[in-house]
Amino acid sequence: MAVTIAVSLQKGGTSKTTTAETLAAIYGSKGKRVLLIDMDSQQNATFISGVTPQKTISDVFNGDASIDEAIYHSSHYDILAADEYLANLERIDELPVTLLKDALSPVYDRYDMILIDTPPALGNLLKNSLYASDYALIPTDARPFSLKGLDALEPTLEAVRKVSKHFRVLGIVLVKYNERTVLNRQLKDLLAERVEAMGTVLFDSRIREGIAVAEAQAMQMSLIDYAPKSNPCLDYIALADEILERMER
Ligand SMILES: Nc1ncnc2c1ncn2[C@@H]1O[C@H](COP(=O)(O)OP(=O)(O)OP(=O)(O)O)[C@@H](O)[C@H]1O
Ligand SMILES: [Mg+2]
Repeated sequence: MAVTIAVSLQKGGTSKTTTAETLAAIYGSKGKRVLLIDMDSQQNATFISGVTPQKTISDVFNGDASIDEAIYHSSHYDILAADEYLANLERIDELPVTLLKDALSPVYDRYDMILIDTPPALGNLLKNSLYASDYALIPTDARPFSLKGLDALEPTLEAVRKVSKHFRVLGIVLVKYNERTVLNRQLKDLLAERVEAMGTVLFDSRIREGIAVAEAQAMQMSLIDYAPKSNPCLDYIALADEILERMER
């Protein structure tokens, strides 16, 4: 049975896609059977994976494709791709929250790990992603507004916890970290507060900034193939290990 992790935060541009795709590639390259799911109509994860899908997760939701028809192989992982129509689901009132979970039921057993890239909105797609998951992984930068933004996620997480008893926030990871960034006292307190309120941990691994990230994505390559020795790649490799350790506990 796969361990399923939704990489989530409603704030835009906090490395959700980068984190989901890079971790998928790292685990895949280590021999794990990995499925990456693109739940964002921006299709950034789909783009990086390099696949040109004929069928997408929208087709699966609409009943126009089976889940098997919509899963494509990329070099390190399988991918369930997105399309622009996914955005329509955000506009449906009372869309069932278990649409994704139900769609995935035939494939949970076939993978060791499922990573879900979620959109930057507290909507149906994020909710569906969380309900289908064992864990949420939250990437954020160390800026005051970003840390305050963690609060807005809490009611959604709480709703999921009520239904999925085992659901947990796996941890918060600081991204786009610059070694010259001074985590001042105020920011440290703010972060510690949020970590505690979410009943989770701050990962020791911090993801440093590196131009290789955007370059790799423009080339539709995973960071481990494009720049395996780059700072952000080394940091993601450390994070991948730390995640496994944390899940064992
Ligand atoms: N460690 C890093 N170093 C430098 N640039 C980075 C790093 N991580 C992400 N980026 C860049 O920051 C931008 C936003 O990253 P990404 O697309 O992963 O965020 P996101 O949270 O998925 O955004 P959205 O909310 O729009 O889905 C991208 O251009 C990406 O290349
Ligand atoms: Mg994204």
